[in-house]
Amino acid sequence: MKLKGKTALITGGAIRIGKAISTELAKNGVNIAMHYHRSKSEALHLQKELRGKGVKVELFKADISDLESIPVFFEEVNKTFPQIDILVNNAGVFPKGGLLDINKEQLDQVFGINLFAPLFLMRAFAKQIPDNGQGKIVNIVDAKVFKSEPARFAYRLTKVALWEATKLAAMELAPRITVNAISPGLMMSLAGYEHLDMQAVAERRVPLKILGSGEIVAQNLIHILKQDFMTGNNIIIDGGEYIS
Ligand SMILES: NC(=O)c1ccc[n+]([C@@H]2O[C@H](COP(=O)([O-])OP(=O)(O)OC[C@H]3O[C@@H](n4cnc5c(N)ncnc54)[C@H](OP(=O)(O)O)[C@@H]3O)[C@@H](O)[C@H]2O)c1
Repeated sequence: MKLKGKTALITGGAIRIGKAISTELAKNGVNIAMHYHRSKSEALHLQKELRGKGVKVELFKADISDLESIPVFFEEVNKTFPQIDILVNNAGVFPKGGLLDINKEQLDQVFGINLFAPLFLMRAFAKQIPDNGQGKIVNIVDAKVFKSEPARFAYRLTKVALWEATKLAAMELAPRITVNAISPGLMMSLAGYEHLDMQAVAERRVPLKILGSGEIVAQNLIHILKQDFMTGNNIIIDGGEYIS
């Protein structure tokens, strides 16, 4: 796909990996429908910065754990951008805990945001791509899906399912729409873990002994979007951490 002049919807597009994705897309001439939930000031700041690159940037607030609101949310986006060409399912939550810690409220939240919302967004996205049109979906998964470990039990389940959904959707939506995934490994510290020396963690866990970054994810996303003979694929960016 030629990127210049196209329009992308990025969930959680205002901070961290989502911010890097919005920025790299804008640099490539892509108009941005930037979804956010709580990060309004970051979204406004990034909107101003990216408009400086000559692309259209509009903000859309939604709590995507509210699944019934997703079709309405997508209609709102389509009122401003009648066609979204690229969907990036980036928003996610990363709750702690193993099997013994799960409860219904946590499962509803993590499955809602990490799995069910991407499914409803893929559906709404696919419906607005015309029969002779071309669309691209990229789901942000996690390199953890390639190794069974019980930590963050519910989170892993959602990401394993999102990777499977990527392949199923790639088959169902071909040839109009390609559906691929990116699976990041160790990237940056989480809220509440700023005290951790991430470089030291990388030296222990990652064969390449460095951290990834939102920018590396975004560069790989641009690569995927430019490919027209690639679907149902998953680019693993983890410095070799999950080589089995
Ligand atoms: N960082 C890593 O090391 C890493 C590694 C592997 C995979 N990943 C995956 O990469 C993606 C981005 O990770 P990140 O670390 O940059 O994310 P993050 O800092 O955890 O941010 C999560 C994003 O999700 C959005 N979000 C959370 N709850 C939401 C809700 N109820 N409704 C709508 N949006 C909601 C947030 O929007 P607001 O801020 O606007 O509320 C935010 O933009 C995630 O899918 C994550 O699982 C990250």
